[in-house]
Amino acid sequence: MSVSHPSVQRVLTGITPSGTPHLGNYAGAIRPAIAASRQPGVESFYFLADYHALIKTTDPARVQRSTLEISASWLAAGLDTERVWFYRQSDIPEIPELTWLLACVAGKGLLNRAHAYKAAVDKNVAAEEDPDAGVNMGLFMYPVLMAADILMFKSHKVPVGRDQIQHIEMARDMAASFNHLYGEHFVLPEAEVDASVATLPGLDGRKMSKSYDNTIPLFAPAAELKRLIFSIVTDSKAPGEPKEAEGSALFQLYQAFATAEETRAMRTAFEEGIAWGEAKQALFERIDAAVAPMRVKYEALIAEPHVIERHLQEGAEKARAIATPFMAELRHAVGLRNLAAAFAVKAADKPKAALPQFKQYREADGRFYFKFVDGDGRLLVQGAGFDSPRDAGRCVAALKQGAAFHVEGDGMHVDGARIGDLADGVHADDVRRALAALAA
Ligand code: TRP
Repeated sequence: MSVSHPSVQRVLTGITPSGTPHLGNYAGAIRPAIAASRQPGVESFYFLADYHALIKTTDPARVQRSTLEISASWLAAGLDTERVWFYRQSDIPEIPELTWLLACVAGKGLLNRAHAYKAAVDKNVAAEEDPDAGVNMGLFMYPVLMAADILMFKSHKVPVGRDQIQHIEMARDMAASFNHLYGEHFVLPEAEVDASVATLPGLDGRKMSKSYDNTIPLFAPAAELKRLIFSIVTDSKAPGEPKEAEGSALFQLYQAFATAEETRAMRTAFEEGIAWGEAKQALFERIDAAVAPMRVKYEALIAEPHVIERHLQEGAEKARAIATPFMAELRHAVGLRNLAAAFAVKAADKPKAALPQFKQYREADGRFYFKFVDGDGRLLVQGAGFDSPRDAGRCVAALKQGAAFHVEGDGMHVDGARIGDLADGVHADDVRRALAALAA
């Protein structure tokens, strides 16, 4: 099966193009992602989630403009497109195709619990509206599309904000269901929330976010950057009065762009009562120094959209080199097959099907189970529920490696622990024979 080499970590994340990139996006996502993409042993996939943008906005010009600005920002910030996979979701037709296959294994009940959808319903209910008023199917299906983004490239790690963790868990869930039904095709992804990554405050001191309208655009012209920095809300402490660095939006912004040494000096300046105007000037100069060289590249790119387009087209080609054959494998797995090849396919399937196999999966009770079935798919052993996939996996590995077991009644025991039950009419010797066949 085409699972990527285990020593290479695949990292993937999507950026929804529905606005203009701001300093918070840079410090919280763009900068750490580009740094991570330079690590050895990592394959990075960064893409513009423009299908996702359609859920939030119906303004075509905004989608196009934002796609342009975000692409230009990542390139200007130093993303190396030779090294990473940088593409636009809507250039990969296999993604919506996979979305459908996953929709057919995703429980509707699971999607009912997705935060974004639930928040919309709760708001409607509170307003005594119809629960689904104004909710489109895009919002409801959002986690399925996102699962397709992730599973298509067999990503191990998905760096996201806390609000997205649930979506990664849903992707795992869909992957496990699909694997259970059709064989081990998908890698189960994990969310990666990096607590050391800066969350920047905005102009009003709350988290910088376009939904609070308190952002500083990453590539605002210098004069605009200065004007915005001088509009950051501060308290009324006079020049000379000691100021608290902790909790100051100005200080946090400074820290996100300064070295440890510069930060220490600024902390001292705060204690010594630096005037707010002076601190703002220092902040402007620090950010401008960091951003100015990138701003030049950004402006050049924005003026030449065909260059950006070419990067995206090349990225799409690179991504489809993975997605197209994988989608063919998945289509075959679910039975969407070329009929003319039916006989050849059957012959190829046979030896695989004739072997007994272990299947691991998660049940609605949240526990992790395994099954052992013979080559005809007959259940031999129904494993007990384990707390973690690792515990279940360890038990399966022990059996595969020939661990001794004994049977009492229907219960199967290894090292004194009950690990499962023999299925009706199955004898311990049937299990031993099947294990031996598998080992051979
Ligand atoms: N939903 C993500 C967000 O709004 C963007 C996204 C789309 C994404 N597909 C993804 C993130 C896949 C990680 C992996 O932030």
